[in-house]
Amino acid sequence: MRKPNLHPEIDLDRIPRHVAIIMDGNGRWAVERGLERNAGHREGIGSVREIIRASRDYDVRVLTLYAFSIENWNRPKGEVSELMRLLEEYLENELAEVMENRARVRSIGRLDRLPPSTRRAVEHAVRETEGNDGMQLVFALSYGGRTELVDAARRLARDAELGKVDPEGIDEKAFASYLYAPDLPDPDLLIRTGSEQRVSNFLLWQIAYSEIHLSGCMWPEFRRAEFEAAILDYQRRERRFGLTSAQVRSGGDGVVE
Ligand code: IPE
Ligand code: IPE
Ligand code: MG
Repeated sequence: MRKPNLHPEIDLDRIPRHVAIIMDGNGRWAVERGLERNAGHREGIGSVREIIRASRDYDVRVLTLYAFSIENWNRPKGEVSELMRLLEEYLENELAEVMENRARVRSIGRLDRLPPSTRRAVEHAVRETEGNDGMQLVFALSYGGRTELVDAARRLARDAELGKVDPEGIDEKAFASYLYAPDLPDPDLLIRTGSEQRVSNFLLWQIAYSEIHLSGCMWPEFRRAEFEAAILDYQRRERRFGLTSAQVRSGGDGVVE
């Protein structure tokens, strides 16, 4: 039976398996209201909570949230430390609900750059939820898409040097196995809030064929209704993966006569 709180027009058989979100616009949301930027980050936590709940209700299998980019380290010290503090507080406060929902917390990015207490909070949440079989909740922290590719290339080169990998045998699948979370499916839907139209170094490899939904909403205003609008937008798209529309509609497998 369809749960009553679900949007009547959303097709539950075509829910994106993996939704990735660039949560942008906290600072502008605050400044527009005459508040300091950090007030926007605090308000943004409410959206994180609501979007995780909505994702669970629609049975999205993987939700990846871009919480802090490698470039964000260059922001003013006070803003960086408040973001780290909020992240720790969030993980502590939400762990009980995450456990209740059997969600599994993961992280991608250069965690070694995080302050020790933040890193411990992330590792604790990851460890505690490791055995959970529900939705996967992936936090991109100190994350950069180019850094991820460089890290992958470095490990691959090391394995080649050790004779574990034959350079001639490296294909896309082999390369992808060196990414931070190689078992995850690529995002079907990439959402960016905050009205900018760029990817800001997010999941450069994985978004090759993601559908992109740009929202004019600042992140603190992006709530369940906006998330549902993004899913409806996604469901109106035809994903062709290089094929023609006719091929897709006939269930084409890409083999052209
Ligand atoms: C997103 O909001 C949060 C992070 C990048 C950590 P911003 O802080 O980038 O907000 P704007 O883009 O300045 O409004
Ligand atoms: C992208 O937002 C990073 C996160 C949402 C964590 P930014 O605000 O850092 O992106 P730019 O600088 O506008 O491209
Ligand atoms: Mg921004």
